[in-house]
Amino acid sequence: MQQWADGQRRRGRTIGFVPTMGALHEGHASLMRSARRRCDAVVVSLFVNPAQFGPNEDYARYPRDPKGDSALCRREKVDILFMPTAGAVYPEGHDTKILVGRIGDVLEGAVRPGHFSGVATVVAKLFQIVKPDLAFFGQKDYQQTVVIKRLVRDLNFPVKIIVSPTVREKDGLAMSSRNRYLSDGERGAARFLFKALQKGRERIGQGERDAAAVRDAMALLIQEQPQAQIDYATVVHPETLQEVSKIEGPVVLLLAVRIGKTRLIDNLLVKI
Ligand code: PAJ
Repeated sequence: MQQWADGQRRRGRTIGFVPTMGALHEGHASLMRSARRRCDAVVVSLFVNPAQFGPNEDYARYPRDPKGDSALCRREKVDILFMPTAGAVYPEGHDTKILVGRIGDVLEGAVRPGHFSGVATVVAKLFQIVKPDLAFFGQKDYQQTVVIKRLVRDLNFPVKIIVSPTVREKDGLAMSSRNRYLSDGERGAARFLFKALQKGRERIGQGERDAAAVRDAMALLIQEQPQAQIDYATVVHPETLQEVSKIEGPVVLLLAVRIGKTRLIDNLLVKI
C-alpha cells in the first residue's frame, strides 16, 4: 500500500482516502463519490478495528460483507480497496497508541471509554500507510470528525479533512452498518431519532434559547418509544463539544439511543 501511494505521489497524482469498517452503504458511497470528484486516485480501507470496540461491544458480531463491499467499491470506481488483517495492523508487540484529550472523554467517549483512542490510533496508522492528500469522513459520526481534525492539527499530519453530510433513509433514519441489526419493530422506533433532532431544530427556530428545554423536547419524543433507551440527548458547542446552557450561536444536537440491543447515534448542526 505504501509503495503504491509513493508511486502515485511521484507521478503527481493526488490521493483521496475513505477509511471504513465495511458493511458499506450509501453513506460510505457518498464519501467515495466526493473523493472521486476531488482526487486523481481513490483508496478505501476496510478494517473492523478491534481497538475501538469495548469489551462488551459488538466487535465479534459487527456486520461483515466483503463481497457486497467490493462490488460497491467497483461501482464507485475506487482504485484500491485496502483490507489489512488485524495481525498486519497490530502485529505481535504493538505497544503504542494515541491519547485523545478532553474531546475524547465526553459523549461517545464517556459511554465508550478508550473508543476515540482506538479510532485516532488506527486512523493515524492508516494515514501513514495510505499517505492521502484528502481524507473523507461523514458528519454522521460528528464527534469523530472533531477528534480527527484535532489529531491532524495536533500531530501535523499533511492531510486535509473533508466532512460530508449524513446520508439518510427516506424516513430520515441515518444510514448505518448497525441498522442491519434492527428488527421490523425496532426499525419503526429508530425513525424517532431524526424526528427528535428535527423537533429540537424546530424549537430553536421558534426562538427557544434554553438548551435544557430543547434537550427535553428531544428526549420526550424518544421516551415515547418503549423499545428506546437514551444514552444521551444533548446540545453542545460545535467545536469544544461542551454542553451549552444558553443557545447563542451554532450548536450541535446529539443523540445516542439504544433500541433493543442496537446502539444508534445521530446529530444535527443548527445555526441561528
Ligand atoms: P464506519 O462506521 O464504517 O464509517 C466510515 C465513514 O463513513 C465514517 O467517516 C462515517 O462517518 C461515514 N458514514 C457512516 N454512515 C454515514 C452516513 N449515513 N452518511 C454519511 N457518512 C456516513 O467510522 C468508522 O467506520 C471508523 O471509526 C473508522 C473511521 C473507519 C476508523 O476505524
